[in-house]
Amino acid sequence: MKKIISVVGARPNFIKIAPVDKAFRKYDKDILHLICHTGQHFDKKMSDVFFDELEMPRPSFYLGINSGSHAEQTARIMIEFEKVLLNEKPDLILVPGDVNSTMACSLVASKMGIPIGHVESGLRSFDREMPEEINRVVTDVLSDLLFVSEESGLRHLKNEGIDEKKVHFVGNVMIDSLIHYMPKIDQSKIIEYLNNTYKDARIEKKKFVLVTFHRPSNVDSEEGLRELTDFLNRLADLRPVVFPIHPRTRQNMDQYGLLSRLHSQIITTDPIGYIDFLALTKNAELVITDSGGIQEETTFLGVQCITVRNNTERPITVKVGTNQLIGTDLEKVQQVAKEVLSGKQKTGVIPELWDGRTADRIAKICFNFSRGIN
Ligand code: UD1
Ligand code: UDP
Repeated sequence: MKKIISVVGARPNFIKIAPVDKAFRKYDKDILHLICHTGQHFDKKMSDVFFDELEMPRPSFYLGINSGSHAEQTARIMIEFEKVLLNEKPDLILVPGDVNSTMACSLVASKMGIPIGHVESGLRSFDREMPEEINRVVTDVLSDLLFVSEESGLRHLKNEGIDEKKVHFVGNVMIDSLIHYMPKIDQSKIIEYLNNTYKDARIEKKKFVLVTFHRPSNVDSEEGLRELTDFLNRLADLRPVVFPIHPRTRQNMDQYGLLSRLHSQIITTDPIGYIDFLALTKNAELVITDSGGIQEETTFLGVQCITVRNNTERPITVKVGTNQLIGTDLEKVQQVAKEVLSGKQKTGVIPELWDGRTADRIAKICFNFSRGIN
């Protein structure tokens, strides 16, 4: 029996590892798949809800790391994860995405000679001011199996001189979750719930804008967050807005006294559970975001998306999907939003291999790898 430990820490990680865990169940005579949760995200609404809704087993290891500066968080994860690896001696670890937990655990495993599989490898924003970009580059250089979600990833890994035998173009695990849970997403009552709970604003299918912001570059400075608040208020003159607020963003808006300044047509909520959030995404007329995963989910769903960033590590969503990368000039974002809402929509297609079977491919490759067949 081979042992594989998947690391999860932050919200997007749960969505990426849930389908991988399901795919390993087919190999349960040969592979013991365990989950290690670093505790980088810890609120129920940022963590537990995903285990429940995505039907994941409880983590076998919980490191309880919590928040901190980059160095503190990364270092604490490393110290605790090393203990897990010393005790468990897995044959392979899997790390998804680009968060601090991803890089910290990769560093530990590589020094111990434990092979690493990186789920969502090769993405690059080429912006080293993003902590995620550093996490991506470091993790890829240390990994033995590089699972790529879109064609740009293949190009970047080749340019960086990564041995192509390690690279596997498998598709997008986030889309596996989306496809798997589509029947539940279609039954969600979130719109009715929001209308019953928030009496000031009324939303209808395809007549509201869904907004999420959590990138430090957009939400950490007081000035930037004030401008963002003004932008959201102008947007709410056009359509009702649903704004589930990430804890980083809420903390900062609270600190600068901005929450009470939001327009009455903006429904603000805590982070929303996966099924309901995807139901809102699917039914939105437009999504405005700085999230990584949401750029991909909107492309798959054919929903209009405006990304408020200067770059994206997911260019396929712009090249073939419904995503528009507009930059951080909020006047420009407002103008494009107006155009989209008056019918100037971007058509898109679903990227190659975003077919709901990515995790099956990953599990098969891991199974072969663990038996020494590459
Ligand atoms: C992290 C990832 C980012 C990812 C995002 C997904 C890094 C460097 N960043 O950003 O790539 O896009 O997760 O959502 O790994 N907090 C809570 N409760 C929680 C989680 C966080 O209150 O459950 C607060 C903490 O006080 C912390 C702040 O939010 O100060 C930020 O958390 P952190 O994990 O450091 O970074 P994120 O902004 O969540
Ligand atoms: N998400 C959710 N509820 C929310 C916001 C997001 O379930 O209120 C889901 C959604 O599927 C999204 C994923 O969490 O793709 C990742 O979230 P986030 O934007 O925090 O991370 P990123 O992809 O930017 O790293």
